[in-house]
Amino acid sequence: MNSFSEKKIKTNNMILILDFGSQVTQLIARRIRELGVFCEVKNFNISEDEINEINPRALILSGGPASVFEENAPMIEKNIFNLNLPIFGICYGEQLLCQLLGGKVEKSFEREFGKAEINIIADSPLLSGVINKQVWMSHGDHISKIPDGFKAIAKTPKAPFAVIANEHKKIYGAQFHPEVVHSLDGKKIIKNFVIDIAKCIDDWSMKNFKDQEIANIKKIVGQKKVICGLSGGVDSSVTASLIDQAIGSQLTCIFVDHGLLRKNEGQEVREIFSKNFSGDFIYVDAKDLFLKNLSNISDPEQKRKIIGKTFIEVFDQQASKIKDAEFLAQGTLYPDVIESSHPNNGVSQTIKSHHNVGGLPENMQLKLLEPLRMLFKDEVRNLGRQLNLPQKLIGRHPFPGPGLAIRIIGEITQEKINILQEADNIFIEEIRLANLYDEIWQAFCVLLPIKTVGVMGDARTYENVLALRAVNSIDGMTAEVYNFDSQFLCKVSNRIINEVRGINRVVYDYTSKPPGTIEWE
Ligand code: XMP
Repeated sequence: MNSFSEKKIKTNNMILILDFGSQVTQLIARRIRELGVFCEVKNFNISEDEINEINPRALILSGGPASVFEENAPMIEKNIFNLNLPIFGICYGEQLLCQLLGGKVEKSFEREFGKAEINIIADSPLLSGVINKQVWMSHGDHISKIPDGFKAIAKTPKAPFAVIANEHKKIYGAQFHPEVVHSLDGKKIIKNFVIDIAKCIDDWSMKNFKDQEIANIKKIVGQKKVICGLSGGVDSSVTASLIDQAIGSQLTCIFVDHGLLRKNEGQEVREIFSKNFSGDFIYVDAKDLFLKNLSNISDPEQKRKIIGKTFIEVFDQQASKIKDAEFLAQGTLYPDVIESSHPNNGVSQTIKSHHNVGGLPENMQLKLLEPLRMLFKDEVRNLGRQLNLPQKLIGRHPFPGPGLAIRIIGEITQEKINILQEADNIFIEEIRLANLYDEIWQAFCVLLPIKTVGVMGDARTYENVLALRAVNSIDGMTAEVYNFDSQFLCKVSNRIINEVRGINRVVYDYTSKPPGTIEWE
Protein backbone atom coordinates (compact mmCIF):
# COMPACT_ATOMS: atom_id res chain seq x y z
CA MET A 1 0.00 0.00 0.00
CA ASN A 2 1.22 3.50 -0.69
CA SER A 3 1.20 6.11 1.96
CA PHE A 4 -0.33 9.39 0.98
CA SER A 5 1.15 11.54 3.67
CA GLU A 6 4.75 10.73 3.05
CA LYS A 7 6.40 13.59 1.23
CA LYS A 8 4.19 16.35 2.28
CA ILE A 9 6.22 18.55 4.58
CA LYS A 10 7.73 20.87 2.05
CA THR A 11 10.11 23.31 3.60
CA ASN A 12 13.72 24.11 3.08
CA ASN A 13 13.85 25.41 6.62
CA MET A 14 14.94 22.03 7.84
CA ILE A 15 17.89 19.89 8.85
CA LEU A 16 18.62 16.55 7.25
CA ILE A 17 20.19 13.91 9.50
CA LEU A 18 22.06 11.11 7.79
CA ASP A 19 21.83 8.01 9.94
CA PHE A 20 24.85 5.75 10.35
CA GLY A 21 23.08 3.43 12.76
CA SER A 22 23.64 4.94 16.20
CA GLN A 23 21.15 3.94 18.89
CA VAL A 24 20.65 7.63 19.63
CA THR A 25 20.18 9.12 16.15
CA GLN A 26 16.52 9.74 16.90
CA LEU A 27 17.54 11.85 19.85
CA ILE A 28 19.31 14.26 17.49
CA ALA A 29 16.04 14.64 15.62
CA ARG A 30 14.07 15.15 18.80
CA ARG A 31 16.48 17.80 20.06
CA ILE A 32 16.13 19.71 16.77
CA ARG A 33 12.34 19.45 16.77
CA GLU A 34 12.33 20.70 20.37
CA LEU A 35 14.03 23.82 19.04
CA GLY A 36 11.01 24.31 16.78
CA VAL A 37 12.86 23.31 13.63
CA PHE A 38 11.72 20.51 11.34
CA CYS A 39 14.20 17.74 10.55
CA GLU A 40 14.21 14.35 8.93
CA VAL A 41 16.34 11.25 9.41
CA LYS A 42 17.41 9.41 6.25
CA ASN A 43 19.73 6.49 5.62
CA PHE A 44 23.35 7.50 5.16
CA ASN A 45 23.32 6.17 1.60
CA ILE A 46 20.95 8.83 0.29
CA SER A 47 22.13 10.21 -3.05
CA GLU A 48 23.26 13.73 -3.72
CA ASP A 49 20.21 14.21 -5.96
CA GLU A 50 17.85 13.19 -3.19
CA ILE A 51 19.54 15.61 -0.82
CA ASN A 52 19.13 18.35 -3.39
CA GLU A 53 15.50 17.50 -3.74
CA ILE A 54 14.93 17.68 0.01
CA ASN A 55 16.85 20.94 -0.03
CA PRO A 56 17.85 21.14 3.65
CA ARG A 57 19.59 24.08 5.29
CA ALA A 58 22.25 21.79 6.77
CA LEU A 59 23.30 18.18 7.28
CA ILE A 60 24.08 16.26 10.43
CA LEU A 61 26.04 13.03 10.15
CA SER A 62 25.02 10.78 13.04
CA GLY A 63 27.08 8.40 15.11
CA GLY A 64 27.20 4.71 14.31
CA PRO A 65 28.72 1.43 15.42
CA ALA A 66 31.14 0.93 12.49
CA SER A 67 34.79 1.93 12.05
CA VAL A 68 35.46 4.22 9.10
CA PHE A 69 38.28 2.02 7.85
CA GLU A 70 36.33 -1.24 8.02
CA GLU A 71 35.49 -2.86 4.73
CA ASN A 72 31.89 -1.94 3.87
CA ALA A 73 31.86 0.87 6.42
CA PRO A 74 28.87 3.14 5.74
CA MET A 75 30.05 5.98 3.51
CA ILE A 76 28.64 9.06 1.89
CA GLU A 77 29.37 10.53 -1.50
CA LYS A 78 32.31 12.87 -1.10
CA ASN A 79 30.50 15.40 -3.26
CA ILE A 80 28.18 16.03 -0.36
CA PHE A 81 30.91 18.26 1.07
CA ASN A 82 30.70 20.44 -2.03
CA LEU A 83 27.00 21.19 -1.65
CA ASN A 84 27.85 24.33 0.30
CA LEU A 85 25.75 23.18 3.24
CA PRO A 86 26.81 23.49 6.86
CA ILE A 87 27.67 19.99 8.13
CA PHE A 88 27.97 18.68 11.67
CA GLY A 89 29.46 15.20 12.13
CA ILE A 90 28.79 13.50 15.45
CA CYS A 91 31.08 10.67 16.66
CA TYR A 92 31.24 8.33 13.65
CA GLY A 93 30.08 11.32 11.60
CA GLU A 94 33.10 13.32 12.76
CA GLN A 95 35.47 10.47 12.00
CA LEU A 96 33.93 9.97 8.60
CA LEU A 97 34.26 13.58 7.57
CA CYS A 98 37.87 13.60 8.77
CA GLN A 99 38.66 10.48 6.79
CA LEU A 100 36.96 11.73 3.64
CA LEU A 101 38.50 15.20 3.76
CA GLY A 102 42.09 14.04 4.21
CA GLY A 103 42.49 13.58 7.98
CA LYS A 104 43.36 10.34 9.74
CA VAL A 105 41.36 8.02 11.98
CA GLU A 106 42.99 5.21 13.97
CA LYS A 107 41.92 2.34 16.12
CA SER A 108 42.27 3.04 19.83
CA PHE A 109 43.53 0.42 22.24
CA GLU A 110 41.03 1.59 24.74
CA ARG A 111 37.38 2.38 24.12
CA GLU A 112 36.26 5.67 25.61
CA PHE A 113 32.79 5.29 27.02
CA GLY A 114 30.96 7.55 29.45
CA LYS A 115 31.38 11.00 30.85
CA ALA A 116 34.28 13.25 29.91
CA GLU A 117 35.06 16.91 30.31
CA ILE A 118 35.84 19.13 27.35
CA ASN A 119 38.27 21.99 27.47
CA ILE A 120 37.34 24.71 24.98
CA ILE A 121 40.52 25.88 23.30
CA ALA A 122 39.28 28.23 20.57
CA ASP A 123 36.30 30.48 19.97
CA SER A 124 33.67 29.11 17.65
CA PRO A 125 29.97 29.81 17.08
CA LEU A 126 29.39 26.07 17.65
CA LEU A 127 30.48 26.25 21.28
CA SER A 128 29.26 29.73 22.03
CA GLY A 129 27.61 29.91 25.47
CA VAL A 130 28.68 26.39 26.47
CA ILE A 131 29.27 26.54 30.21
CA ASN A 132 28.82 22.96 31.40
CA LYS A 133 31.74 21.01 30.05
CA GLN A 134 30.51 17.49 30.76
CA VAL A 135 29.95 15.44 27.60
CA TRP A 136 29.11 11.83 26.79
CA MET A 137 31.67 9.80 24.85
CA SER A 138 31.17 6.45 23.19
CA HIS A 139 33.84 5.57 20.66
CA GLY A 140 36.51 3.02 19.88
CA ASP A 141 38.44 4.82 17.14
CA HIS A 142 40.06 8.22 17.40
CA ILE A 143 41.14 10.99 15.07
CA SER A 144 44.91 11.36 14.88
CA LYS A 145 45.07 14.08 12.22
CA ILE A 146 42.45 16.58 11.15
CA PRO A 147 41.99 17.66 7.52
CA ASP A 148 43.51 20.86 6.16
CA GLY A 149 41.40 23.90 6.90
CA PHE A 150 40.19 22.47 10.25
CA LYS A 151 41.20 23.38 13.78
CA ALA A 152 40.49 21.79 17.14
CA ILE A 153 38.11 23.96 19.16
CA ALA A 154 37.77 21.66 22.19
CA LYS A 155 39.70 18.72 23.57
CA THR A 156 39.52 16.18 26.35
CA PRO A 157 42.46 14.40 27.98
CA LYS A 158 41.86 11.42 25.70
CA ALA A 159 40.53 13.18 22.60
CA PRO A 160 42.64 16.08 21.31
CA PHE A 161 40.07 16.60 18.54
CA ALA A 162 36.92 16.37 20.68
CA VAL A 163 35.40 19.20 18.63
CA ILE A 164 36.78 20.42 15.32
CA ALA A 165 35.74 23.19 12.97
CA ASN A 166 36.27 24.49 9.50
CA GLU A 167 34.61 27.84 10.06
CA HIS A 168 35.05 28.93 6.50
CA LYS A 169 33.13 25.96 5.11
CA LYS A 170 30.90 25.65 8.19
CA ILE A 171 31.85 22.02 8.69
CA TYR A 172 32.08 20.81 12.28
CA GLY A 173 32.67 17.56 14.11
CA ALA A 174 32.23 16.37 17.70
CA GLN A 175 33.63 13.17 19.07
CA PHE A 176 30.95 13.04 21.78
CA HIS A 177 27.16 12.88 21.57
CA PRO A 178 25.62 16.32 22.19
CA GLU A 179 22.14 14.82 21.74
CA VAL A 180 22.18 12.75 24.96
CA VAL A 181 21.23 14.31 28.27
CA HIS A 182 24.58 13.45 29.86
CA SER A 183 26.18 16.04 27.56
CA LEU A 184 24.99 18.82 29.80
CA ASP A 185 25.18 21.67 27.29
CA GLY A 186 24.62 19.41 24.29
CA LYS A 187 21.30 21.08 23.48
CA LYS A 188 23.07 24.41 23.35
CA ILE A 189 25.61 23.02 20.86
CA ILE A 190 22.84 21.64 18.65
CA LYS A 191 21.01 24.95 18.89
CA ASN A 192 24.15 26.85 17.91
CA PHE A 193 24.48 24.67 14.85
CA VAL A 194 20.83 24.67 13.81
CA ILE A 195 19.86 28.26 14.52
CA ASP A 196 23.08 30.29 14.40
CA ILE A 197 25.17 28.39 11.88
CA ALA A 198 22.51 26.81 9.63
CA LYS A 199 20.19 29.82 10.05
CA CYS A 200 17.02 27.80 10.53
CA ILE A 201 13.93 29.55 11.82
CA ASP A 202 11.90 27.99 14.63
CA ASP A 203 8.59 27.66 12.80
CA TRP A 204 7.87 23.98 13.54
CA SER A 205 4.95 23.80 15.95
CA MET A 206 2.02 21.47 16.37
CA LYS A 207 -0.35 24.36 15.83
CA ASN A 208 1.14 24.96 12.37
CA PHE A 209 1.34 21.24 11.71
CA LYS A 210 -2.32 20.80 12.58
CA ASP A 211 -3.46 23.54 10.19
CA GLN A 212 -1.24 22.35 7.36
CA GLU A 213 -2.16 18.71 7.85
CA ILE A 214 -5.89 19.38 7.92
CA ALA A 215 -5.55 21.23 4.60
CA ASN A 216 -3.39 18.39 3.28
CA ILE A 217 -5.89 15.69 4.26
CA LYS A 218 -8.74 17.66 2.65
CA LYS A 219 -6.74 17.87 -0.55
CA ILE A 220 -5.73 14.20 -0.62
CA VAL A 221 -9.10 12.77 0.36
CA GLY A 222 -11.36 15.09 -1.62
CA GLN A 223 -14.88 13.68 -1.51
CA LYS A 224 -13.76 10.09 -0.78
CA LYS A 225 -14.35 8.07 2.37
CA VAL A 226 -11.81 7.14 5.03
CA ILE A 227 -11.83 4.25 7.48
CA CYS A 228 -9.87 4.43 10.70
CA GLY A 229 -9.28 1.73 13.31
CA LEU A 230 -9.48 3.16 16.83
CA SER A 231 -7.71 1.31 19.62
CA GLY A 232 -8.27 3.72 22.48
CA GLY A 233 -4.58 4.63 22.46
CA VAL A 234 -3.08 8.04 21.79
CA ASP A 235 -1.87 7.45 18.24
CA SER A 236 -5.08 6.16 16.71
CA SER A 237 -7.19 8.71 18.60
CA VAL A 238 -5.08 11.64 17.42
CA THR A 239 -5.07 10.27 13.86
CA ALA A 240 -8.83 9.96 13.91
CA SER A 241 -9.36 13.36 15.47
CA LEU A 242 -7.15 15.10 12.92
CA ILE A 243 -8.94 13.44 10.03
CA ASP A 244 -12.27 14.11 11.66
CA GLN A 245 -11.47 17.82 11.82
CA ALA A 246 -10.48 17.74 8.16
CA ILE A 247 -13.29 15.74 6.58
CA GLY A 248 -15.77 14.94 9.40
CA SER A 249 -18.67 13.00 7.96
CA GLN A 250 -16.52 11.19 5.35
CA LEU A 251 -14.71 9.37 8.19
CA THR A 252 -15.83 6.12 9.78
CA CYS A 253 -13.99 4.91 12.86
CA ILE A 254 -14.12 1.26 13.78
CA PHE A 255 -13.40 0.25 17.34
CA VAL A 256 -12.96 -3.48 17.85
CA ASP A 257 -13.37 -4.26 21.53
CA HIS A 258 -11.42 -7.47 22.09
CA GLY A 259 -12.30 -7.53 25.76
CA LEU A 260 -8.65 -7.37 26.77
CA LEU A 261 -8.60 -3.66 27.51
CA ARG A 262 -8.13 -1.99 30.86
CA LYS A 263 -11.20 -1.68 33.10
CA ASN A 264 -13.87 0.59 31.57
CA GLU A 265 -11.66 1.50 28.65
CA GLY A 266 -14.09 0.37 25.97
CA GLN A 267 -16.75 2.61 27.47
CA GLU A 268 -14.35 5.53 27.76
CA VAL A 269 -13.40 5.31 24.09
CA ARG A 270 -17.06 5.41 23.11
CA GLU A 271 -17.68 8.46 25.27
CA ILE A 272 -14.64 10.32 23.95
CA PHE A 273 -15.74 9.58 20.44
CA SER A 274 -19.29 10.75 20.91
CA LYS A 275 -18.11 14.00 22.54
CA ASN A 276 -15.25 14.89 20.22
CA PHE A 277 -15.97 13.50 16.76
CA SER A 278 -18.45 14.25 14.05
CA GLY A 279 -17.74 11.23 11.82
CA ASP A 280 -19.38 7.79 12.08
CA PHE A 281 -18.39 5.37 14.79
CA ILE A 282 -18.81 1.62 14.73
CA TYR A 283 -18.34 -0.19 18.03
CA VAL A 284 -17.81 -3.92 17.60
CA ASP A 285 -18.20 -6.05 20.66
CA ALA A 286 -15.99 -9.00 19.76
CA LYS A 287 -15.11 -10.06 23.31
CA ASP A 288 -16.62 -13.52 23.05
CA LEU A 289 -14.99 -14.30 19.74
CA PHE A 290 -11.53 -13.34 21.01
CA LEU A 291 -12.00 -15.33 24.19
CA LYS A 292 -13.16 -18.35 22.22
CA ASN A 293 -10.21 -18.17 19.82
CA LEU A 294 -7.80 -17.80 22.73
CA SER A 295 -9.15 -20.66 24.79
CA ASN A 296 -6.46 -23.14 25.91
CA ILE A 297 -3.67 -21.02 24.42
CA SER A 298 -0.68 -20.35 26.66
CA ASP A 299 2.11 -19.51 24.29
CA PRO A 300 2.65 -15.72 24.05
CA GLU A 301 3.49 -15.64 20.36
CA GLN A 302 0.47 -17.77 19.56
CA LYS A 303 -1.70 -15.42 21.59
CA ARG A 304 -0.38 -12.49 19.57
CA LYS A 305 -0.97 -14.27 16.27
CA ILE A 306 -4.51 -15.27 17.18
CA ILE A 307 -5.38 -11.80 18.38
CA GLY A 308 -3.87 -10.23 15.26
CA LYS A 309 -5.72 -12.60 12.97
CA THR A 310 -9.04 -12.27 14.78
CA PHE A 311 -8.68 -8.51 14.79
CA ILE A 312 -8.17 -8.44 11.05
CA GLU A 313 -11.16 -10.69 10.43
CA VAL A 314 -13.48 -8.61 12.57
CA PHE A 315 -12.17 -5.32 11.23
CA ASP A 316 -12.32 -6.50 7.65
CA GLN A 317 -15.90 -7.63 8.04
CA GLN A 318 -16.94 -4.21 9.30
CA ALA A 319 -14.79 -2.25 6.87
CA SER A 320 -16.19 -4.11 3.89
CA LYS A 321 -19.66 -2.83 4.81
CA ILE A 322 -18.50 0.72 4.16
CA LYS A 323 -19.05 1.19 0.49
CA ASP A 324 -16.69 3.33 -1.59
CA ALA A 325 -14.07 3.72 1.13
CA GLU A 326 -10.82 4.68 -0.49
CA PHE A 327 -8.46 5.34 2.39
CA LEU A 328 -7.42 3.52 5.50
CA ALA A 329 -6.02 5.78 8.24
CA GLN A 330 -3.27 4.51 10.52
CA GLY A 331 -1.42 6.06 13.43
CA THR A 332 2.08 5.20 12.20
CA LEU A 333 4.72 7.35 13.92
CA TYR A 334 8.10 8.57 12.77
CA PRO A 335 10.23 6.06 14.74
CA ASP A 336 8.54 3.24 12.80
CA VAL A 337 9.14 5.03 9.53
CA ILE A 338 12.81 5.47 10.38
CA GLU A 339 13.24 1.95 11.68
CA SER A 340 11.62 0.31 8.74
CA SER A 341 14.07 2.00 6.40
CA HIS A 342 17.08 1.55 8.64
CA PRO A 343 20.20 -0.15 7.24
CA ASN A 344 20.94 -2.15 10.39
CA ASN A 345 17.41 -2.89 11.32
CA GLY A 346 17.60 -6.65 11.71
CA VAL A 347 17.36 -6.44 15.46
CA SER A 348 14.74 -3.75 15.70
CA GLN A 349 12.62 -5.49 13.12
CA THR A 350 12.46 -8.70 15.09
CA ILE A 351 11.50 -6.73 18.15
CA LYS A 352 8.83 -4.95 16.15
CA SER A 353 7.39 -8.00 14.49
CA HIS A 354 5.29 -8.72 17.54
CA HIS A 355 4.06 -5.17 17.78
CA ASN A 356 1.85 -5.29 14.77
CA VAL A 357 -1.43 -6.35 16.28
CA GLY A 358 -3.91 -4.08 14.62
CA GLY A 359 -1.90 -4.34 11.42
CA LEU A 360 -4.37 -4.49 8.62
CA PRO A 361 -5.10 -6.80 5.75
CA GLU A 362 -2.88 -6.38 2.74
CA ASN A 363 -5.71 -7.29 0.41
CA MET A 364 -7.85 -4.38 1.48
CA GLN A 365 -7.28 -2.35 -1.68
CA LEU A 366 -7.23 0.82 0.33
CA LYS A 367 -4.70 3.60 0.19
CA LEU A 368 -2.96 4.32 3.47
CA LEU A 369 -3.43 7.69 5.09
CA GLU A 370 -0.79 8.18 7.78
CA PRO A 371 -0.92 11.79 8.92
CA LEU A 372 1.38 11.23 11.93
CA ARG A 373 4.20 9.52 10.09
CA MET A 374 6.51 12.51 10.51
CA LEU A 375 5.89 12.89 14.24
CA PHE A 376 7.49 11.63 17.42
CA LYS A 377 5.29 10.47 20.28
CA ASP A 378 5.69 13.66 22.32
CA GLU A 379 4.70 15.67 19.25
CA VAL A 380 1.61 13.47 18.82
CA ARG A 381 0.63 14.25 22.40
CA ASN A 382 1.08 17.94 21.69
CA LEU A 383 -1.01 17.65 18.59
CA GLY A 384 -3.69 15.88 20.64
CA ARG A 385 -3.78 18.93 22.91
CA GLN A 386 -4.15 21.20 19.90
CA LEU A 387 -7.08 19.03 18.85
CA ASN A 388 -8.65 19.40 22.30
CA LEU A 389 -8.60 15.72 23.12
CA PRO A 390 -8.91 15.03 26.86
CA GLN A 391 -5.63 14.99 28.80
CA LYS A 392 -6.53 11.60 30.28
CA LEU A 393 -6.39 10.12 26.80
CA ILE A 394 -3.37 12.04 25.59
CA GLY A 395 -1.24 11.23 28.60
CA ARG A 396 -2.18 7.56 28.72
CA HIS A 397 0.62 5.06 29.23
CA PRO A 398 1.42 2.88 26.21
CA PHE A 399 -0.72 -0.23 26.01
CA PRO A 400 0.13 -3.27 23.90
CA GLY A 401 -2.18 -4.23 21.03
CA PRO A 402 -2.85 -7.72 22.49
CA GLY A 403 -3.74 -5.99 25.75
CA LEU A 404 -4.22 -8.00 28.90
CA ALA A 405 -3.75 -11.26 26.99
CA ILE A 406 0.02 -10.92 27.38
CA ARG A 407 -0.33 -9.87 31.02
CA ILE A 408 -2.17 -13.03 31.98
CA ILE A 409 0.61 -15.57 31.99
CA GLY A 410 -0.66 -18.85 30.59
CA GLU A 411 -4.25 -19.52 29.60
CA ILE A 412 -6.78 -16.73 29.42
CA THR A 413 -10.23 -16.93 30.97
CA GLN A 414 -12.89 -14.30 31.56
CA GLU A 415 -12.40 -14.69 35.30
CA LYS A 416 -8.67 -13.95 35.01
CA ILE A 417 -9.38 -10.92 32.82
CA ASN A 418 -11.77 -9.59 35.46
CA ILE A 419 -9.25 -10.13 38.26
CA LEU A 420 -6.48 -8.43 36.33
CA GLN A 421 -8.67 -5.48 35.33
CA GLU A 422 -9.65 -4.87 38.94
CA ALA A 423 -6.09 -5.12 40.25
CA ASP A 424 -4.70 -2.96 37.46
CA ASN A 425 -7.35 -0.36 38.12
CA ILE A 426 -6.35 -0.10 41.77
CA PHE A 427 -2.64 0.18 40.92
CA ILE A 428 -3.27 2.95 38.38
CA GLU A 429 -5.75 4.72 40.64
CA GLU A 430 -3.18 4.84 43.46
CA ILE A 431 -0.51 6.03 41.05
CA ARG A 432 -2.79 8.85 39.95
CA LEU A 433 -3.71 9.72 43.54
CA ALA A 434 -0.01 9.98 44.39
CA ASN A 435 0.48 12.25 41.37
CA LEU A 436 2.97 9.84 39.87
CA TYR A 437 1.17 8.89 36.66
CA ASP A 438 2.97 11.38 34.42
CA GLU A 439 6.33 10.55 35.97
CA ILE A 440 6.06 6.92 34.92
CA TRP A 441 6.32 5.74 31.34
CA GLN A 442 4.30 2.58 31.78
CA ALA A 443 2.75 0.87 34.80
CA PHE A 444 0.63 -2.27 34.89
CA CYS A 445 -0.08 -5.57 36.61
CA VAL A 446 0.69 -9.11 35.54
CA LEU A 447 -1.39 -12.05 36.71
CA LEU A 448 0.75 -15.12 37.38
CA PRO A 449 -0.45 -18.71 37.08
CA ILE A 450 1.06 -19.48 40.47
CA LYS A 451 -1.00 -20.10 43.57
CA THR A 452 0.40 -19.51 47.01
CA VAL A 453 -0.93 -20.00 50.50
CA GLY A 454 -2.12 -17.09 52.60
CA VAL A 455 -4.39 -16.31 55.56
CA MET A 456 -7.34 -13.97 55.56
CA GLY A 457 -9.18 -13.59 58.81
CA ASP A 458 -9.01 -17.08 60.25
CA ALA A 459 -9.16 -18.82 56.95
CA ARG A 460 -6.42 -20.26 54.80
CA THR A 461 -6.36 -18.96 51.23
CA TYR A 462 -4.79 -20.49 48.18
CA GLU A 463 -4.85 -17.91 45.41
CA ASN A 464 -2.86 -16.26 42.64
CA VAL A 465 0.21 -14.05 42.71
CA LEU A 466 0.09 -10.65 41.03
CA ALA A 467 3.18 -8.77 39.89
CA LEU A 468 3.29 -4.98 39.72
CA ARG A 469 5.49 -3.45 37.03
CA ALA A 470 6.40 0.20 36.45
CA VAL A 471 9.17 1.45 34.21
CA ASN A 472 10.58 4.56 32.71
CA SER A 473 11.73 4.56 29.14
CA ILE A 474 12.10 6.83 26.14
CA ASP A 475 10.86 4.54 23.42
CA GLY A 476 10.34 1.12 24.99
CA MET A 477 13.61 -0.21 23.59
CA THR A 478 15.31 0.06 26.96
CA ALA A 479 13.71 0.66 30.32
CA GLU A 480 14.60 1.25 33.91
CA VAL A 481 12.55 0.22 36.91
CA TYR A 482 10.54 2.95 38.59
CA ASN A 483 11.45 3.19 42.27
CA PHE A 484 8.34 3.61 44.38
CA ASP A 485 8.47 4.43 47.99
CA SER A 486 7.96 1.15 49.90
CA GLN A 487 4.97 2.59 51.79
CA PHE A 488 3.28 3.19 48.47
CA LEU A 489 3.83 -0.39 47.34
CA CYS A 490 2.53 -1.70 50.69
CA LYS A 491 -0.61 0.37 50.28
CA VAL A 492 -1.24 -0.88 46.73
CA SER A 493 -0.56 -4.46 47.78
CA ASN A 494 -2.97 -4.21 50.73
CA ARG A 495 -5.71 -2.71 48.65
CA ILE A 496 -5.40 -5.32 45.92
CA ILE A 497 -5.38 -8.26 48.33
CA ASN A 498 -8.32 -6.84 50.27
CA GLU A 499 -10.40 -5.76 47.32
CA VAL A 500 -9.71 -8.27 44.57
CA ARG A 501 -10.95 -11.80 45.07
CA GLY A 502 -8.45 -14.25 43.57
CA ILE A 503 -5.17 -12.59 44.58
CA ASN A 504 -3.48 -13.16 47.91
CA ARG A 505 0.10 -12.08 47.20
CA VAL A 506 1.57 -9.08 45.38
CA VAL A 507 5.19 -8.75 44.26
CA TYR A 508 7.13 -5.92 42.57
CA ASP A 509 9.24 -6.54 39.47
CA TYR A 510 12.74 -5.03 39.72
CA THR A 511 14.00 -6.08 36.29
CA SER A 512 15.31 -3.47 33.87
CA LYS A 513 15.29 -3.89 30.09
CA PRO A 514 17.65 -5.33 29.04
CA PRO A 515 17.98 -8.02 30.30
CA GLY A 516 14.21 -8.25 30.86
CA THR A 517 11.48 -7.01 28.57
CA ILE A 518 8.80 -4.62 29.74
CA GLU A 519 5.92 -7.05 29.29
CA TRP A 520 6.25 -10.49 30.82
CA GLU A 521 5.18 -12.28 27.66
P1 XMP B 1 8.68 -5.25 25.51
O1 XMP B 1 7.88 -6.19 26.33
O2 XMP B 1 8.99 -5.74 24.13
O3 XMP B 1 7.76 -3.96 25.33
O4 XMP B 1 9.90 -4.77 26.24
C1 XMP B 1 8.17 -2.75 24.76
C2 XMP B 1 6.93 -1.90 24.56
O5 XMP B 1 6.12 -2.50 23.56
C3 XMP B 1 4.85 -2.85 24.08
N1 XMP B 1 4.51 -4.16 23.52
C4 XMP B 1 3.62 -4.33 22.54
N2 XMP B 1 2.87 -3.44 21.87
N3 XMP B 1 1.93 -5.22 20.63
C5 XMP B 1 2.00 -3.90 20.92
O6 XMP B 1 1.29 -3.11 20.30
C6 XMP B 1 2.65 -6.17 21.26
O7 XMP B 1 2.54 -7.35 20.98
C7 XMP B 1 3.55 -5.69 22.27
N4 XMP B 1 4.44 -6.32 23.09
C8 XMP B 1 5.00 -5.36 23.85
C9 XMP B 1 5.02 -2.87 25.57
O8 XMP B 1 3.79 -2.64 26.25
C10 XMP B 1 6.05 -1.79 25.78
O9 XMP B 1 5.43 -0.52 25.78
